[in-house]
Amino acid sequence: MASEKPLAVVTCTAPVNIAVIKYWGKRDEELVLPINSSLSVTLHQDQLKTTTTAAISKDFTEDRVWLNGREEDVGQPRLQACLQEIRRLARKRRNTWDGDLPPSSLNCKVHVASENNFPTAAGLASSAAGYACLAYTLARVYGVESDLSEVARRGSGSACRSLYGGFVEWQMGEQADGKDSIARQVAPESHWPELRVLILVVSAEKKLMGSTVGMQASVKTSPLLRFRAESVVPARMAEMTRCIQERDFRGFAQLTMQDSNQFHATCLDTFPPISYLSHISWRIIHLVHRFNAHHGDTKVAYTFDAGPNAVIFTLEDTMADFVAAVRHTFPPGSNGDTFLRGLQVRPASLPAELKAALAMEPTPGGVKYIIATQVGPGPQILDDPYTHLLGPDGLPKPAA
Ligand code: DP6
Repeated sequence: MASEKPLAVVTCTAPVNIAVIKYWGKRDEELVLPINSSLSVTLHQDQLKTTTTAAISKDFTEDRVWLNGREEDVGQPRLQACLQEIRRLARKRRNTWDGDLPPSSLNCKVHVASENNFPTAAGLASSAAGYACLAYTLARVYGVESDLSEVARRGSGSACRSLYGGFVEWQMGEQADGKDSIARQVAPESHWPELRVLILVVSAEKKLMGSTVGMQASVKTSPLLRFRAESVVPARMAEMTRCIQERDFRGFAQLTMQDSNQFHATCLDTFPPISYLSHISWRIIHLVHRFNAHHGDTKVAYTFDAGPNAVIFTLEDTMADFVAAVRHTFPPGSNGDTFLRGLQVRPASLPAELKAALAMEPTPGGVKYIIATQVGPGPQILDDPYTHLLGPDGLPKPAA
């Protein structure tokens, strides 16, 4: 146990992001450089966030990491890549330091504890928030002020987009060293206040094939993926940016659905094929299209990552009606009162004409629960020492 107080302890939080133009495929596995640019929406941390505490002390004899209270293998290559990269940046900064030398923190070992405020088992993208939080917290504890895209990216590609709030693009870059493969905010979280996000949790099962392995297989075998990266995504990035800047929901929604569908098409074009959507995912897709057809307008959009959960975008005035349609199509079991979590949604009954237009036999329990949220800010530093996940001895505090 540590006898001295740690030299520095910092606690930060970071958000989950959901891509509307998907990243799928690397041109460099080691540096985590993508074959196309991508664009995402940062979700609000009131509903989904990772909290991370990092502490450095002369007394620590090795780097150690705890995730949701359990000690992890610090030797994992991605963790090591993040640690090495942040220490490289810290060393660089110290070498160019022209005032007093900062404390010799670089020679110290670090302890890191990290927690999610949402069930990891729900299959929601936790690695993006996790690695963004790790990069951001380590940067604070080691006094690094440079761009953190590379640190987060080395953990998980999509994590670099969680370094900012609002609407964020990850520019693929051209350089072999990846220095120009960086995340950048397209618009802040205040830009589109009416935009709402519903996460339809379909399955808590662990996915069959992780993103890293899945995209490797796609890069090797899918001609459609190559076509997508070279000939489709560049124009879509520009169009999506325009839709966001102009708050053009119809355009945003249509392109979001098309890009999700094309990503899943490249999975099917992979050989052997990969399939992340379940029959419930497909029912959600039909529900959204019928809902939109009934309104004669694109009121709701879906997007799916490497798993069966749906993320729905809609505007505030449509949220209650769409939730009613989901409840009708996927009647909750005994959890009726906890079916909807997060933001308050006005209770609405499903209009008879809409029910008829949906023409769907209910699938009880198909959607386990819904998290209602909105666009949110980027990583935050927590000032209150009470929030530290590590105690003065540098070990995780017992869970409250
Ligand atoms: C389908 O960022 O998890 O969610 O870089 O190998 O860690 P690695 O992959 P990861 O892939 C995310 C893929 C996606 C689309 C996206 O978020 O853009």
